[in-house]
Amino acid sequence: MGEGDDLRAMITGFRTSAALSVAAELGISDALADDGQTVSELAAAVKADEDTLGRLLRAMVAIGVYAVQDGVYTNTSLGERLRSDVPGTLRPLARMGQDPAFWAAWGHLAHSVRTGENAFEAMQGVDVWTYRETRPELNANFNENMTALSWYVGKAVADTYDFGKLSTVVDVGGGHGILLDAVLNRYENLHGVVFDLPHVVAKQPRTEALAPRWSAVAGNFFEAVPPADAYLIKSILHDWPDDRCVQILRTCAATLNPGGVVLVVELVLDRSGYEGEAAFSDLNMLVMPGGRERTEDQYAALFKAAGLHLTKVIDTSARFSIIEATA
Ligand SMILES: C[S@@+](CC[C@H](N)C(=O)[O-])C[C@H]1O[C@@H](n2cnc3c(N)ncnc32)[C@H](O)[C@@H]1O
Repeated sequence: MGEGDDLRAMITGFRTSAALSVAAELGISDALADDGQTVSELAAAVKADEDTLGRLLRAMVAIGVYAVQDGVYTNTSLGERLRSDVPGTLRPLARMGQDPAFWAAWGHLAHSVRTGENAFEAMQGVDVWTYRETRPELNANFNENMTALSWYVGKAVADTYDFGKLSTVVDVGGGHGILLDAVLNRYENLHGVVFDLPHVVAKQPRTEALAPRWSAVAGNFFEAVPPADAYLIKSILHDWPDDRCVQILRTCAATLNPGGVVLVVELVLDRSGYEGEAAFSDLNMLVMPGGRERTEDQYAALFKAAGLHLTKVIDTSARFSIIEATA
């Protein structure tokens, strides 16, 4: 190891991201789920060129994602996390790197840093939501990634926050509704609504048992949301600049039932233990949706501008915090 090797590895880190993305796209971990395979068996299973696949596998073995013995490849514990069928799968996250627009946005980070503008929109001429609306596969993969992430965050939120005194909760921008399902599963008297854009919103709860207490509403959170005792707003505000966040919060404040709460669930900047994760997520928000991660004080200012008041910040076991506000 020479001086600068750590820095060299950081600089070339994009190669790791690209190679992992291809392994995920090909479904190598799924193909290795039951049995080890030789490179020629694997090439037939994932429809790839045998020699080139061997080169990709060599790199994956080098970083510990797959293991090889006597020419037979198997998943390591890291490789297992790229299987489609494991709870909290990381396969959809890795597959996001298959869209050239994703790399173009990150490749245009300098533009964002110089001008403060959103790189994605500068490159594509539309925001990420409009771009995904006309690309069903990309949209589906994005929603699967949010569902996988919110699978464990949802459990942590349901375990941490006391919803006991509330009757109705709306999951604002709730996507496929995994967070809402976790909360309704935990609180048997609670009724819930998942609210999202028409081409995204969940069609049904994940279990039939929730159906009597569950509904879905399609709409636009800049215009109106259904009334509630609690608004769950997870990974939404970080997608938007301040003025748009205030609009979303005002929409919620307008129909918040008396005594109700707004619960923003986000990674909060400057909380110890995951500074790097929050800081790089902040850059991702800058180049992709055009938003930002925020400190507790910055959330307090957003609430204030929307006529709400930050009451407390509760950390969960999933690194995400619950930022509570009242009218
Ligand atoms: C980063 S995802 C978060 C999904 C979910 N809350 C979670 O954490 O798993 C942002 C969500 O906001 C939704 N969204 C974007 N613009 C919206 C709008 N104008 N009205 C309603 N939902 C919107 C997207 O469709 C997407 O599901």
